[in-house]
Amino acid sequence: MTNAFHLRPFEDGDYITVQDDHLCMDGVDLTELAREHGTPLFVYSEQRIRHNARMLLAAFREHHEAARVCFASKACANLTVLGIVNEEGVDLEVNSGGELEKARAAGFASDRLVMNGVSKSRDEIALAVDPPIKAINVDSPFELERIASVASELGTRANVALRGIPGVEGGSTAGIETGSERSKFGMTLAEIEQCLTLAEANPDSIAVVGLHVHIGSQMTDLGLYADAARYVAERGGAIQARFPSDFRHINIGGGFPKTYVKYNDQSPEIGYFHTTLTPADVAATVMPILADVLGRNIEILTEPGRAMMSDAALCLSTAESKKERDGTRWLYLDTGYSVIAEAAQGWYFHMTNVNRAGEEATDRFRVVGPLCDSIDVYYDTEGESKLSTLLQAEPALAEHEALLRKTLVRTPSHRELQASTGPGDVIAILDTGAYQLELASHYCGRLRPAAVLIEKDGGVKTIRRRDTIADLTQHEAVA
Ligand SMILES: Cc1ncc(COP(=O)(O)O)c(C=O)c1O
Repeated sequence: MTNAFHLRPFEDGDYITVQDDHLCMDGVDLTELAREHGTPLFVYSEQRIRHNARMLLAAFREHHEAARVCFASKACANLTVLGIVNEEGVDLEVNSGGELEKARAAGFASDRLVMNGVSKSRDEIALAVDPPIKAINVDSPFELERIASVASELGTRANVALRGIPGVEGGSTAGIETGSERSKFGMTLAEIEQCLTLAEANPDSIAVVGLHVHIGSQMTDLGLYADAARYVAERGGAIQARFPSDFRHINIGGGFPKTYVKYNDQSPEIGYFHTTLTPADVAATVMPILADVLGRNIEILTEPGRAMMSDAALCLSTAESKKERDGTRWLYLDTGYSVIAEAAQGWYFHMTNVNRAGEEATDRFRVVGPLCDSIDVYYDTEGESKLSTLLQAEPALAEHEALLRKTLVRTPSHRELQASTGPGDVIAILDTGAYQLELASHYCGRLRPAAVLIEKDGGVKTIRRRDTIADLTQHEAVA
């Protein structure tokens, strides 16, 4: 066992360790796995999924017995993964008819499902009301009318929760911030009032069972959770009073952050990718606000995606090529944003050399993917280019360069990897268990990756086969 990194090494006792110079997950040699299954390859840890499920349930139940965790399945809707989540007693959040069908295929009972989405079709609503799921989170009065119409056509009563806009901003970036009127999600108080009136007029097809908010993803500011909790606590009481026999839950959404720089903090300035905030901190902030206002009988739901799944997997890639230009070393992986989609959105994922994991990460590389697209890089090419355009246009800005860089450039320009890293080496892209597999595409004729699970007994099971060339061609007609 070696301590490879200057700030925080992969530790003995952790599920990711270094043994005989090789990176291992749950004791399984990842170099061997890459050789056996090829790359890109997602490697999930069953033990880590179970650990995270228990950690999230415990964090919220410590404060309130009637707390439920609904894993946001958009973060990873693989059927095997969903089955493990189900076994741990975690419920599910779905965002489409497709995710609803997958949830049922994975064995989730309808009363353990909540459904989000800003434009649910009549067919999707029909799936959610017959049999009725725990709650459809309603995004507009128009949608509630549609739900009432579908439910009455099917002779059933839809359970709905109203998604409010708590009016909180910040904590991450606009693309993943969903709690303000700037975002496309949720309803104003006037729109919620319209829904309540509509529900009162349609008691046979609509049951108002809850109130819902979701303020964004990777939200690192506890104050924002407190604001959102106060919003639902205040409005929830009034709705509860109007629908006393139906109203039974408050849903505070997800967005709990995970740190992406825990092993080797290469760039302490990279803002919200580094956090020490835990779900237990979020629970300690919001649960007293909710339970004290609404009473002990109210169920409190959460919808974590990232906090459940991001560190439950890593992605193995292979360094295919290299270049050296003006003193800069470039490393070309076989894995770009068709596999790690959030990298192209400026998301930071730590990397390390799997087959030289015991060596110090001393060499700096521009790390890039294989796609024919200049945003297919593991640094913020757009932010760097905006910064350089500004500095060229106005030289006086040079004295504010540090501030501008911090504002405009979201990820480090280079990655530190083990010396002499080059073609043939296996590179692990860490904390990629949430969202990446779901977002994988065939862009540039790339095959979507395989995924394996390291089972709790140490066995390795393929949970998603790699696409084949037939998968690229079979849906298309030849001229
Ligand atoms: C309504 C809703 N709930 C939960 C989540 C999960 O968010 P996170 O993965 O940040 O926890 C999302 C993510 O987009 C969402 O839109």
